[in-house]
Amino acid sequence: MKILMVCLGNICRSPIAEGVLAQKAKERGLDWQVDSAGTNRYHTGEAPHRFSQKVCLQHGIDISGQCARTFTAKDFEQYDIIYALAMDVYREIEKIGGTKALMNKVKLFLSEREEGSTASVPDPWYGDESGYLPVYRLIEETCEAIVHKYTASSL
Ligand code: 4NP
Repeated sequence: MKILMVCLGNICRSPIAEGVLAQKAKERGLDWQVDSAGTNRYHTGEAPHRFSQKVCLQHGIDISGQCARTFTAKDFEQYDIIYALAMDVYREIEKIGGTKALMNKVKLFLSEREEGSTASVPDPWYGDESGYLPVYRLIEETCEAIVHKYTASSL
């Protein structure tokens, strides 16, 4: 299964989601490929934000090798599930190429934690370091729910 995590810059939230879900899949021996992208290109080519790297490393996950890239219409073909980490990101994805059929692949990330939720992962970009741990925890809980959901049906 190929999964894409998408936020705005691809430097704060989606790199954490990529790192955490990839780690969980690896631990469970799942053949999942997890990537991430951003709907804007301000940070293309950059490594994840230092506080995203730090909070992941504190939990045993090294995301320093990731490199920010921009979401494109081609991603609709490449991935089975595309997770928008926030509602504004979901709308951007819709603008980039979402026909109704393609948008079936796109889900709001936090709806996997709580069905029907329209909540967004808060953007820690505008705040200080204290914002990163709560964001990490929210992402971790949601990734756990995703693994549970997609492995429970195949047991
Ligand atoms: P992210 O955070 O979407 O979680 O990577 C942001 C990073 C940079 C910007 C916006 C959000 N920016 O506008 O530069």
